[in-house]
Amino acid sequence: MTDRLLIVDFGSQVTQLIARRVREAGVYCEILPFQAVDDAKIKAFDPRGIILSGGPASVTEGQSPTAHPAIFTAKVPVLGICYGEQTMAKELGGSVEGGHHREFGRAEVEIKASTRLFDGVWQPGDRKQVWMSHGDRVTKLPAGFSVVATSENAPFAAIADESRGYYGVQFHPEVVHTPDGAKLLRNFALNIAGAKGDWTMAAFRERAIAQVRAQVGKGKVICGLSGGVDSSVVAVLLHEAIGDQLQCVFVDHGLLRLNEGEEVVRLFRDHYNIPLIHADASKEFLKALEGVTDPEKKRKTIGALFIDVFEAEAKKIGGAEFLAQGTLYPDVIESVSFTGGPSVTIKSHHNVGGLPARMNMKLVEPLRELFKDEVRALGRELGLPADLVNRHPFPGPGLAIRIPGDITKDKLDLLRKVDAVYLDEIRKAGLYDEIWQAFAVLLPVRTVGVMGDGRTYDQACALRAVTSTDGMTADYYPFDHAFLGRVANRIINEVRGVNRVTYDITSKPPGTIEWE
Ligand code: XMP
Repeated sequence: MTDRLLIVDFGSQVTQLIARRVREAGVYCEILPFQAVDDAKIKAFDPRGIILSGGPASVTEGQSPTAHPAIFTAKVPVLGICYGEQTMAKELGGSVEGGHHREFGRAEVEIKASTRLFDGVWQPGDRKQVWMSHGDRVTKLPAGFSVVATSENAPFAAIADESRGYYGVQFHPEVVHTPDGAKLLRNFALNIAGAKGDWTMAAFRERAIAQVRAQVGKGKVICGLSGGVDSSVVAVLLHEAIGDQLQCVFVDHGLLRLNEGEEVVRLFRDHYNIPLIHADASKEFLKALEGVTDPEKKRKTIGALFIDVFEAEAKKIGGAEFLAQGTLYPDVIESVSFTGGPSVTIKSHHNVGGLPARMNMKLVEPLRELFKDEVRALGRELGLPADLVNRHPFPGPGLAIRIPGDITKDKLDLLRKVDAVYLDEIRKAGLYDEIWQAFAVLLPVRTVGVMGDGRTYDQACALRAVTSTDGMTADYYPFDHAFLGRVANRIINEVRGVNRVTYDITSKPPGTIEWE
């Protein structure tokens, strides 16, 4: 088994970043909510080391989450970060006090002593920038620990017990605002926990292929292909593992971007020689969407029809025991919720989730351990074309949720043209890879314009571009005005039927990325 680290989540917003930094060091790791930790789980996972995340609670309050004793009887190195440091200190016999000066944002630590955690990164006497976010602080060290760094408001900014391999940092090494943080986490994973650092995408590919073969045997697998990164990587990986036992089904709902449908068929059927059914259901989808204006109703209509078409195609080929899905790690992590209660549905997401039960199929999910950027790395490893691997996410319901109001073929065609011009300019400006998602929205508004000597009364569109790391929060992309002017000019000149262009500068929250 590959060397692995366990990350215990106490509910920090940035716990996933710890996992990413550890994996970037070539060490496989998983996140477990603090309530789920017990002796059996730790034994079964067999980690080389454990990292305790930060969290919003205060250890000075009665009901606050604590680090399970099994963490300290496992006899492996432990690194506590922020709240993780505090709960570790408390559990091991130190004390923590609240109500001090809150330290939030950039801070400076002064290195007081050398430690294996700082090896090759920080020397005694250095003053280094870190990111702090805490109100409580450790005030008495547990036996065996000493202070290795201080900050103005955290006299125990970093503590170490070298003999047991226990370390605590009040700052967050996982965020970019702690410039040396990734190196410290690497030191913990490789030098202190002793992981080999051999978890690469090449190794993952081998292991995933072996696992798929073992799971599937001689069974048949159906994979829904959308043209997006995740399903494409799943398809190519599975094809490598089980060859023609894989049958891909591409449900073309007619809500795709310009030429996208043809590109999917060309790449997978013609280039990779993967058995692919192209179910062109665009007419059925348009008919089902006729007159539907409510966003949720649109999503539900598309989702339900998608499943019907997929199921019909699957039946035609005689069914299959397995359904492959591009589920990613963020969908699997059971994150700690301190808000309590179920969260409200903002938008019902479209996927083929209802199918496995309805058709009595088992799931094959070879990407369920990976983050999005790791899926991209795997795609590169598998030799998928760069423009596909780096493609922006595209929602299941497609352009339908980028056309507020009812959907018609004419509107879809118009939007496809606007979108293509916009993306072309973004690519030409070399900005595509800096942006999480960029797309156009066709507004249900007509405006008056003047072109040449004539009056126009045409449609308005909005352009959207956001930066994000996971789609959960997002900022609008700050294009310069010359760029926006150029795009607007091209759209109005090249796309007949659109005479006004606006740029959406809403962040998420309070907005969402898509308009519906
Ligand atoms: P919102 O609009 O909720 O979108 O801020 C967050 C991210 O999710 C994508 N999205 C979807 N992806 N099926 C998907 O596979 C869907 O139904 C769906 N709706 C939104 C959206 O494009 C953005 O990346």
